[in-house]
Amino acid sequence: MNLEELRRNYASRALDLPDLQSSPFMQFDQWMREAIAAQLLEPNAMTLATVDAAGQPWARTVLLKGFDERGFVFYTNYESAKAGAIAANPRVALHFSWLPLERQIAVTGTAEKISAIESLRYFLSRPRDSQIGAWASRQSEVITTRSVLEQKFAEMKAKFAQGEIPLPTNWGGYRVTPATFEFWQGRPSRLHDRFRYSRVVTGAWEIARLMP
Ligand SMILES: Cc1cc2nc3c(=O)[nH]c(=O)nc-3n(C[C@H](O)[C@H](O)[C@H](O)COP(=O)(O)O)c2cc1C
Repeated sequence: MNLEELRRNYASRALDLPDLQSSPFMQFDQWMREAIAAQLLEPNAMTLATVDAAGQPWARTVLLKGFDERGFVFYTNYESAKAGAIAANPRVALHFSWLPLERQIAVTGTAEKISAIESLRYFLSRPRDSQIGAWASRQSEVITTRSVLEQKFAEMKAKFAQGEIPLPTNWGGYRVTPATFEFWQGRPSRLHDRFRYSRVVTGAWEIARLMP
């Protein structure tokens, strides 16, 4: 295997200042619509990077489940490793990798828990088995065998056989309030287009072109 020989020229699109929306939220909305229209696999999958109390970075994929001018919402376990890291350091980064469009979007911001009401509204929209899964998994904890998890799932399935399944107290959403966005479009000869939006005052964004 020779990875050095793997090489691709990015030539399908360009990005210039006049193409950009003045609001990064509108720009994100436009690119997300294009990613969905291009039928990318899981266009709302994003990498969430955190830094824990010891200064150790970690990154994992989560699904973007809501997006507006307030920020980016994802759902998870509030006792997971990522929740521990966010409690110690709410500064996070998000990353969307849309390679078939030769695009990436990188966001920095601050994560905070959303309200239980907002989490409940989404929890109730999930398939019943996913709701039970949230009750069964102590996310990020060590287990000896898969059967421990399957047993817990069966136990919860029996416990919640009837009626509405309540929202687990250790499960819910986070909203990432963005501080910066970077929109990246691949170009020929590695002369890519990069634009960074930085929040200057509430509601106002400064746009800068970056060297590739
Ligand atoms: C495509 C994809 C989507 C995922 N979506 C979520 C999600 O929305 N929420 C979540 O908690 N974990 C999600 N996961 C699992 C996480 O990547 C991760 O393994 C888990 O949240 C535990 O992370 P932690 O131990 O760092 O807290 C997803 C994984 C993949 C590959």
